[in-house]
Amino acid sequence: MRAMAGPETWAAVDAYVGGLLAPHDEALEAALAASGEAGLPAIQVSPPQGKLLYMLARLLGARTILEFGTLGGYSTIWLGRALPDGGRLITLESDPAHAEVARASLKRAGLADVVDLRVGPALETLPTLEAENAGPFDLVFIDADKASTPEYFSWSLDRTRPGGLIVADNVIRDGALVDPETKDPTIPAQRRLHEMLAAEPRVDATTIQTVSVKGYDGISLILVK
Ligand code: SAH
Ligand code: DHB
Ligand code: MG
Repeated sequence: MRAMAGPETWAAVDAYVGGLLAPHDEALEAALAASGEAGLPAIQVSPPQGKLLYMLARLLGARTILEFGTLGGYSTIWLGRALPDGGRLITLESDPAHAEVARASLKRAGLADVVDLRVGPALETLPTLEAENAGPFDLVFIDADKASTPEYFSWSLDRTRPGGLIVADNVIRDGALVDPETKDPTIPAQRRLHEMLAAEPRVDATTIQTVSVKGYDGISLILVK
């Protein structure tokens, strides 16, 4: 083991693993380049995490996916590529500038007809999806404004098929999850999510700590029974 493995090592390991097992093709590379050029924050999932999302969707045989938080479409491309012919992915993004970048990158990736990108705060879009009878979903990826994760989870739980999966990103935040003095304003919502999961008989859930090029964080994996 390397002495004092820390953020630099996490990033180097991500580069190694990503290079071999989650290499970027032109469309993924172009999506990141377009995000960078447009000044979007580089907060997309890491390449190994993108590959994990793809693999989870494949394992589920997912045909319908819902994503909260599109950013530049990087995770959306990984998820969209896991879908079979006729599969559909709805992705929700509040920032029109982010959505514009994502739309171009999704088109470049050949996913324009697979991905339904809705612009607006997710909590305002959900009633529209309800009215359209969207879902049930096989997989939901919650990765938008972190304070709303519990609300997104509640909504999604009612619209995820039995055996489906809900994944929530950024639930640990450098361990702030268990720091009673944390100033991170998103942490109360992550603790509430965990309390909801503990009390919810309709799910089996766990949370996995992750280190990556993005630092120390974690994801909740929520299986709908
Ligand atoms: N899933 C992306 C990263 C998303 S970053 C990836 O891994 O590639 C979080 C995104 O959520 C940002 O683009 C932000 O604009 C968006 N967002 C913030 N608040 C939102 C809201 N209320 N509704 C929908 N999207 C929101
Ligand atoms: C950050 C990371 C994320 O994965 C995300 O979805 C939003 C923000 C961050 O590191 O700030
Ligand atoms: Mg995230």
